[in-house]
Amino acid sequence: KKVVLAYSGGLDTSIILKWLQETYSCEVVTFTADLGQGEELEPARKKAEMLGIKEIFIEDLREEFVRDYVFPMFRANALYEGVYLLGTSIARPLIAKRQIEIAKETGADAVCHGATGKGNDQVRFELGYYALNPDIKVIAPWREWDFHSRSDLIAFAEKHQIPVAKDKRGEAPFSVDANLLHSSSEGKVLEDPNVEPPAYVFQRTVAPEDAPDEATTITIGFDKGDPVSIDGVTLSPAALLTKLNELGHDNGIGRVDLVENRFVGMKSRGIYETPGGTILLAAHRAMESLTLDREAMHLKDQLMPRYAELVYYGFWFAPEREMLQALVDRSQEHVEGEVTLKLYKGNVIVIGRRSDKSLYSDEIVTFEDDAGAYDQKDAEGFIKLNALRLRTLRKLRG
Ligand code: ARG
Ligand code: SIN
Repeated sequence: KKVVLAYSGGLDTSIILKWLQETYSCEVVTFTADLGQGEELEPARKKAEMLGIKEIFIEDLREEFVRDYVFPMFRANALYEGVYLLGTSIARPLIAKRQIEIAKETGADAVCHGATGKGNDQVRFELGYYALNPDIKVIAPWREWDFHSRSDLIAFAEKHQIPVAKDKRGEAPFSVDANLLHSSSEGKVLEDPNVEPPAYVFQRTVAPEDAPDEATTITIGFDKGDPVSIDGVTLSPAALLTKLNELGHDNGIGRVDLVENRFVGMKSRGIYETPGGTILLAAHRAMESLTLDREAMHLKDQLMPRYAELVYYGFWFAPEREMLQALVDRSQEHVEGEVTLKLYKGNVIVIGRRSDKSLYSDEIVTFEDDAGAYDQKDAEGFIKLNALRLRTLRKLRG
């Protein structure tokens, strides 16, 4: 009867909108979120109005996105398959959550998204929907409709007076998703994993080769594991990430080209740009290096791949992710202080760190006279007992 559509205002979701009205003869509510993708949102309102929509939701979710999704994830230092900073993955639960809330507010019984049937995003949206409303009806047009090609889609758009920009008539050169944390590009010209991405793929970083010959030095302040300031200036979560993105952009930081394993079972090639996030990860690790106990750090490092996998697969609103989050958050209690970094031609180089909660002891570690802080003789027994098994094995088994 009524469906809440995640609507970008672009061609594909406009076609979906019309298709919903035709196929389900239902009322459509549109929801457009500003997650920092860098696009004007007012055109989406105009388009929705033009398509006869009465209930239009347009919301700036940037602060919530960074504060409640990006930062908690960075406390865990999450990386999928060693390199992907999960920029798309982490945005989906928030969109899903707002869609479910809007469905409740407007009395809608269904939600709809524009992800294809081949990817991760459909899974993330829908796991989010079902986790928050077990009875919601989900419509995934890409898995349902009879369009078989781009030209079918264009023909449908033209039949219904949906404006089609000239450059959208042919295939788009590749598929893009963007928000405050990252831009991703996949498909089309990028499908051969052995072909270098053309320069025009990159949207939010200069090439490292073109970055300044002079390093930029910055200091990031942390409190409870979250970044709170740059060069002594306190900033809100979204403002801080925006600033780091600018610094990263200028210095060619955060480009990643990888072949990854999608949850649905196929491998895909992606090009990602995560300028601010890449700086933040390095800084956060440096802050932890000073303030975390060794075993606390090693334990969270072991759990990190699992945490990242949960985010990638779309299990944000799942008990196992929340349990890991509680563990991670607990570890961050004393992760505070400042980290100084140099940004230089694609590199993030930590050059200093300080904290009032530092566990680093000059007195103990010094190669100079430690005035009895550490007795080197203790190491002998420490090593002997650790060697006991190894010596026994060698003696008895040869
Ligand atoms: N492969 C990345 C991920 O699964 C990026 C997906 C991009 N999504 C998109 N609709 N273009 O997180
Ligand atoms: C999509 O299918 O919408 C994009 C790719 C993905 O979700 O992994």
